[in-house]
Amino acid sequence: MHIHSTHADGLATLTIARPDKKNALSAAMYEAMATAIVAAQADAAVRALLIAGQPGVFTAGNDLGDFVAHPPSGEDSPVFHFMRALAGFEKPVVAAVCGAAVGIGTTLLLHCDLVYVAEDARLAMPFVSLGLVPEFASSLLLPRLIGRVQAAEKLLLGEAFTGREAVELGLANKALPAADVLGYARQIALRFNQLPPGAVLASKRLLRAESAGLVDATIRAEARVFMEQLRSSEAKEAFAAFFEKRRPDFSRL
Ligand code: COA
Repeated sequence: MHIHSTHADGLATLTIARPDKKNALSAAMYEAMATAIVAAQADAAVRALLIAGQPGVFTAGNDLGDFVAHPPSGEDSPVFHFMRALAGFEKPVVAAVCGAAVGIGTTLLLHCDLVYVAEDARLAMPFVSLGLVPEFASSLLLPRLIGRVQAAEKLLLGEAFTGREAVELGLANKALPAADVLGYARQIALRFNQLPPGAVLASKRLLRAESAGLVDATIRAEARVFMEQLRSSEAKEAFAAFFEKRRPDFSRL
């Protein structure tokens, strides 16, 4: 299995481990992550969740082959199970990001509480370039976090940015040398063992209260358009170009 889920010292850790495919996320991987997050929510011994990838890659986002073979068909799809589980997780979530964090790899960070990145990490949300639209409430949360002007560059143009830039934009807490990211993020996550859990949960709820209902509605609204676009000739051309290792041609669409 490409998702490793462990629990020790009050910390649940989800590690994405499919390095040969740059940690691209398949339906089975989303389902495994959703199951692990739901279990971490229910386990009183878990005080925080840490999400990590591999040293050279966080995740290349959704498996593009899977998008073609098994496109998400509605709210019962594995990707929605994962989104709902993470967006609704009540305990603190810490992310450790090295290498590429593409698509959902970046948008999931908007639902984490503390984000630590490698200075040279490469974040990108190239939905439009793929014939798709923002997902996971990124059209709501990203402009709120970094401003509409910056969000337009990242979401409309799909411009990539480094871990250092992610900190400057206010999307991540701290940029570190790649080798130090996981250890640092883990030490931060373990600090929740020393804090009173009731106050932590209540504070997280308060921090998210303003956007909580809107997040859910936006995820649903985006998903409807996303699924339509997935079936479009624009997306078909973009995916074919990726696998044929060529530039897409949208000129005749
Ligand atoms: N889905 C399916 N397979 C993927 C993938 C994805 N999202 N991302 C990478 N892979 C596969 C490649 O097809 C390749 O497989 P192969 O060895 O069988 O040819 C392998 O992973 C290595 O990828 P490669 O592109 O050669 O690595 P790289 O280091 O040159 O580039 C990335 C890494 C992440 C920048 C690049 O793979 C990429 O842009 N991936 C697509 C990202 C994307 O658009 N995600 C969807 C967002 S919604």
